[in-house]
Amino acid sequence: MEIKKVCVLGAGLMGNGITQVCAQAGYEVAMRDIEQRFIDGGMKTITKNLSREVEKGKRTKEDMDVVLGRIKPTLDLKEAAAGADVVVEVVIEVMDVKKQVYKELMSIVSKDCLFFTNTSGLSITEMAAITDRPAKFIGTHFFNPVPVMKLLEIIRGHETSDETVEIAKAWGKKIGKEVVVVKEAPAFAVNRILCTMLNEAFFVLDEGIAEAADIDKAMVLGCNHPIGPLALSDLVGNETLLRVIEGLHRELGDKYRPAPLLRKLVRAGRFGRKTGKGVYDY
Ligand code: CAA
Repeated sequence: MEIKKVCVLGAGLMGNGITQVCAQAGYEVAMRDIEQRFIDGGMKTITKNLSREVEKGKRTKEDMDVVLGRIKPTLDLKEAAAGADVVVEVVIEVMDVKKQVYKELMSIVSKDCLFFTNTSGLSITEMAAITDRPAKFIGTHFFNPVPVMKLLEIIRGHETSDETVEIAKAWGKKIGKEVVVVKEAPAFAVNRILCTMLNEAFFVLDEGIAEAADIDKAMVLGCNHPIGPLALSDLVGNETLLRVIEGLHRELGDKYRPAPLLRKLVRAGRFGRKTGKGVYDY
């Protein structure tokens, strides 16, 4: 099966990045969100990213216009999904919301359309089970910032077919990613390790062991990480980190207890860069 038209559901941090890399690879992409301001924000980010590449001489202005021309932003789910070969769902990390989206989608897309879900850790099998195509359902976990990060973590659900895995791998390579295929488990492979470390950084901060800037400096200089754990949490979104850790805690027990300070920051609306304040103020 050849993928030609991609539908991306969500224009936020991850959705606009996935839209951009798909359009860059030559796919026609419909990017759908539920409010015009999210669509506008997504298009603004994509345009800014491409313009930066033009300024650096990595892309011509003409090429940028071609890439932008492949993107169809819309508020209309039917318009976005009809005729799509694959839907990449990037809606909020709440299982019931994701399931509702798949219920609506089933009456719009063709029976051959594949469902790819970008989730930080929710069960692929549980989502797939409410659809009429669990064999064509797979997890495609991207990393922020999507245009920069090289990895695509592919997660097979319990019923995902080998054919779907192969199509997802080929698609991932075509959009410029290195792929790894992992089995389904809470938070998969990367976030099980990464988010546990980020959560621990909040415990270290809360216990007064070191200041935020020193924790980050220590991990950058001592471990060669490109960015410290607290700054990274602000980049991915503290509310996203909390959801992943809560999922791990629920499924795997106390070893993954969310740091109270992380909870407190989320309750204060300190989600990170996207809200202008997190561990740090921006
Ligand atoms: N969008 C597009 N491009 C971006 C970007 C963005 N948001 N941010 C930076 N870039 C580009 C820059 O244009 C620059 O490109 P060139 O090399 O072509 O000049 C390059 O990335 C490096 O950027 P900077 O020099 O401005 O800054 P930096 O060297 O500090 O890099 C970073 C920034 C790439 C974000 C780096 O800090 C990094 O790699 N951090 C780690 C990111 C990470 O771990 N992500 C995974 C998070 S976990 C996740 O996403 C999964 C989940 O489910 C929670």
